[in-house]
Amino acid sequence: MVKRLFRRKFLENFAEGIDMGEHRLQRSLTAFDLTILGIGAIIGVGIFVLTGTASARFAGPGIVLSLFISAGACLFTAFCYAEFAALIPVAGSAYNYAYATMGEMIAWIIGWDLILEYIVASIAVAIGWSGYFVNILKAVGISLPVWCSNAPGTVPGAVINLPAVLVVLFLTAMLIIGIKESARFTSLVVFIKLVTVIIFIAVGMFNIKPANWVPFLPFGFKGVMTAAAIIFFAYIGFDAISTVAEETINPQRNMPIGIILSLVICTVLYILVAAILTGMVSYKELDHPAPVAHALNIIGFTWGSALVSVGAVAGITSVLLVMLMGQPRVFFSMSRDGLLWPWIAKVHPRFRTPYVAQIITGGAVAGFAGFLDIGTAAELCNIGTLFAFCIVCGGVTILRWTHPDIKRSFRCPLVPLVPLLGISFCASLMLSLPKITWIRFVVWLIGGLFIYFFYGIKHSRMAKRESSYDISL
Ligand code: ALA
Repeated sequence: MVKRLFRRKFLENFAEGIDMGEHRLQRSLTAFDLTILGIGAIIGVGIFVLTGTASARFAGPGIVLSLFISAGACLFTAFCYAEFAALIPVAGSAYNYAYATMGEMIAWIIGWDLILEYIVASIAVAIGWSGYFVNILKAVGISLPVWCSNAPGTVPGAVINLPAVLVVLFLTAMLIIGIKESARFTSLVVFIKLVTVIIFIAVGMFNIKPANWVPFLPFGFKGVMTAAAIIFFAYIGFDAISTVAEETINPQRNMPIGIILSLVICTVLYILVAAILTGMVSYKELDHPAPVAHALNIIGFTWGSALVSVGAVAGITSVLLVMLMGQPRVFFSMSRDGLLWPWIAKVHPRFRTPYVAQIITGGAVAGFAGFLDIGTAAELCNIGTLFAFCIVCGGVTILRWTHPDIKRSFRCPLVPLVPLLGISFCASLMLSLPKITWIRFVVWLIGGLFIYFFYGIKHSRMAKRESSYDISL
């Protein structure tokens, strides 16, 4: 029994999996494409919404420090992701890394955890999208009633956040029909996003009043850590780059470049935006569903505010699309390995898309997006992602120890120091999250373990092929 829990995929089996004839994916992505893809998945609600709300509620102008701390957690982990992505360039990322190093049960936990990450991230992103969309409507003279444009409990009289529900249903329908974001469309959206951020920086930097930076830490260092645990959401997405390793030319070189470069570019932009935002207006003004546009309005740049809102809506839509599309990939990987029911990965006979997984994902996301507050959703998403990051950092260290001689074309520097720093940063951010988030997370994991013990463990494909795999730890 214990042996079953720790059965591992052997590294060679991944190579075998990639080369399976018709299932082989086309290798066409370069380091530049990966960086664009990364920026496309990273810049979204985190910078356009959470920087403002986390600064108003927890960190004040010290949000800049929060961004540094969460960037640290991501950078250390990014080196570990890069080593794994170059070594095991298959779809499914952290789930497969865990399968190779720590065995099936931990892989299951990570897969189940990634499901939480993608679903809850989509919920938070849909809520952020709605904030900017409502702002645009307001700018053109259409005011949606409060009851249908906010989640209950956020403002008096609110019943449902209808725009958030509708955008999820619309994108889900598009994904089922099979309209994919083409590479050209992704580049266009990334360009719009970068221009939007740069316009904000250019306009904002001439309107800074240093008095707004005083006091710098109105809620003390504890507030900075709480905000760091929330703003970590802004960096989520760089890990998504590793999911296209199978489609990358020379992944051993290009994966690390794409992952680390996109992370560094976003970190620099985020810190500039946060410093300027809190310098332009008092942090107390930033508790708003569209804080960046709101700040421009306060200082009288209404055209800038409208422009930023349009750019933010376009940018956030692409993040939402990536998240909603990522979810069925995880379902697929797990179902292909026999750990989840095969009907989940059913492909539509006409559209050739995983419509069942897509409907489950869209239904869950739309259902919750109407009724949750963005902070609650972001916290839950972060705890799941931080946990996955700890496992990836641990996995790199374990693999260096169990397979010291395997050829690694990208080596995470200073192992075990860098992975250990990654784990410490991620763990301290996890500990800064509220108790209720921990309870929700633990309940989710326990539910997942039930499914594993009642279904996955018996139907695992590894159960049938055990003899050809390495089952020792
Ligand atoms: N990093 C992504 C965002 O901020 C998830 O929207």
